Amino acid sequence: MKVIKTIKQMQLFSLKAKQNKKTIGFVPTMGYLHEGHLSLIRRSKKENDITILSIFVNPAQFGPKEDFKKYPRDKKQDEVLAKKEKVDIIFYPSIKKMYPMGYLTYINIGKTANVLCGKSRPGHFQGVATIVAKLINGVTPNAIYLGQKDAQQAIVVKRMVEDLNWNLTVRTLPIVREKDGLAMSSRNSYLNSQERKQAACLYQSLIVAKKIIRSGERRSTKIIEKVKKVVLKNPGAKIDYVACVDAKTLKPTKMIYKKTLIALAIFIGKTRLIDNIIIDA
Ligand code: PAF
Repeated sequence: MKVIKTIKQMQLFSLKAKQNKKTIGFVPTMGYLHEGHLSLIRRSKKENDITILSIFVNPAQFGPKEDFKKYPRDKKQDEVLAKKEKVDIIFYPSIKKMYPMGYLTYINIGKTANVLCGKSRPGHFQGVATIVAKLINGVTPNAIYLGQKDAQQAIVVKRMVEDLNWNLTVRTLPIVREKDGLAMSSRNSYLNSQERKQAACLYQSLIVAKKIIRSGERRSTKIIEKVKKVVLKNPGAKIDYVACVDAKTLKPTKMIYKKTLIALAIFIGKTRLIDNIIIDA
């Protein structure tokens, strides 16, 4: 496994790989790898000749009061896991190289960036789109692999790739869950043991939503009400949002239909967690 630290070296490597007719799969991450990330790496390995994993905690996607400084980092463990999965390249750019003095250019995604998580985290998706665009320019992949847990992020990236006519496939892979259903996330490490138990309520509430939809309820207001009720049984939980939206456009849906995304963001103590399901019937 090779480690590349500069964009120039990354571009050179990818250029040579392309000249040798190799396909490149790209897994962008902020590190602190877990099974969710590893599932993306495994799929990329299956579908491409070369798999590149980037690790970069991107300051531009954190608000001033958010957790950029304390975001969990473990470079050694990430390298061990990446090696085990036979990642070909780890791309570790530095903040100085990504955002040098005088840096001014940011990608504005428009409407899809300002709802759900974008409403609670102004500027977040501008930061995500900008760094993903910069990483894509460095890696020049044939396919990029993202997790469904960050459903809105995947939609924003897909939109950007389509709008900018980039010749690459965006693959969104299923959420990987802990035994009790909690979606895997680097931020789960912030939870103390009591909070960790309560965090299972995110998925439990989505399962209850699925059940009542199966038994015939289609009104979004009723589903949202029920989800909130399940979540708020936990004294440590506070609701940021619960929403029923179209899984492609993120527009709110009054009635649930096939491909409605039920998405939520919940604070468990001080930790903000997200989860979602797509209704398939
Ligand atoms: O999902 C993440 O880890 C980040 O938002 C990403 C896509 C690596 C961009 O910084």
